Amino acid sequence: MSDAFTPAGITHYLPPDFLAMSLRRDVLAGLGKSPKTLPPKWFYDQRGSQLFERITLLEEYYPTRAEREALELHAEDIAAAAPAETLMELGSGSSRKTPLLLDALAAAGPLRRYIAVDVSDSALIAARKELAALYPALDLEAVAADFEHQLHLLPHEGCRMIAFLGGTIGNFEPEDRHQFLRSIRDCLRPGEGSLLIGTDLVKPPSVLVPAYDDAEGVTAEFNRNVLRVLNAELGADFDVDAFEHVALWNEREEWIEMRLRATRPMRVRLPGVDLEVDFAAGEDLRTEISAKFRPERFAADLDEAGFGVVGQWTDAAGRFGLTLAEPR
Ligand code: SAH
Ligand code: TRP
Repeated sequence: MSDAFTPAGITHYLPPDFLAMSLRRDVLAGLGKSPKTLPPKWFYDQRGSQLFERITLLEEYYPTRAEREALELHAEDIAAAAPAETLMELGSGSSRKTPLLLDALAAAGPLRRYIAVDVSDSALIAARKELAALYPALDLEAVAADFEHQLHLLPHEGCRMIAFLGGTIGNFEPEDRHQFLRSIRDCLRPGEGSLLIGTDLVKPPSVLVPAYDDAEGVTAEFNRNVLRVLNAELGADFDVDAFEHVALWNEREEWIEMRLRATRPMRVRLPGVDLEVDFAAGEDLRTEISAKFRPERFAADLDEAGFGVVGQWTDAAGRFGLTLAEPR
């Protein structure tokens, strides 16, 4: 496993052939089955990370603002309940909400280190630059790693708070989510660490659906970006604009489904994986789920993964939840 340092000061745990190997595997598995799917981590090339940043600023996309508000209201209580030397954030993206936690942890105790973990180099570089200006005395690390497969490689020393914000936990299928929580549990020792997770909460589809289908079409562009990634990385010939963005509320599963719907029959060639796939007119490619949670049930999920819940908080309107848990 390489851990080369780039000039920008990013520690790389992604193997050099990460894009080549994991993307190929994911694409072969996802496009070869019915219905067709693609996993969400491939959205976030540089353009994808920038589009996601724009999503977080959209009127319709309330989760970022609601989570920020929940942190503004409760970071102090959270830090008091779980002081830490190190804050390690998974899927940190732009780290825009992180200062709320850093400030609270610094006030509560011995904070000295922040580790940002993301698959997106460009997001890590931008975040690092901003945080370095705000926190000159803090030991800042940016780690390019896949949190689904490489948690065991990340720094383990000292008392850590692991934060997983943005509702990204909702992007896992239930089975994978359980696996993921267990693997975080395996990284922590009882009495020496905590986990803070942000979850978007169940609410009426009239609020949920527009958050994933905004009037300006930024989310549609973000969703279609995954096809551009396949075109760039695998030499595929997706006619990106021939796919329509669809966001559906799945009432039974309580998740939003993002799909790309073929507007005409298409044969797509993906030379990088030696594959040809046919789309029927109206056929959907499922690109992402965004599960919405109920606090009690999420506490039970954490319990099942070996955590004890220390506290749960929300923004004033109860739109977004923060759950703090400790390994049992
Ligand atoms: N936490 C930020 C960003 C959320 S978007 C916020 O709250 O706004 C999800 C982030 O997770 C993106 O930055 C994406 O690059 C990253 N990500 C997605 N899958 C990942 C994976 N498997 N490993 C590491 N990072 C991942
Ligand atoms: N973690 C974000 C969420 O579930 C990711 C996201 C927001 C997203 N909008 C999206 C993913 C649109 C795909 C398409 O809210």
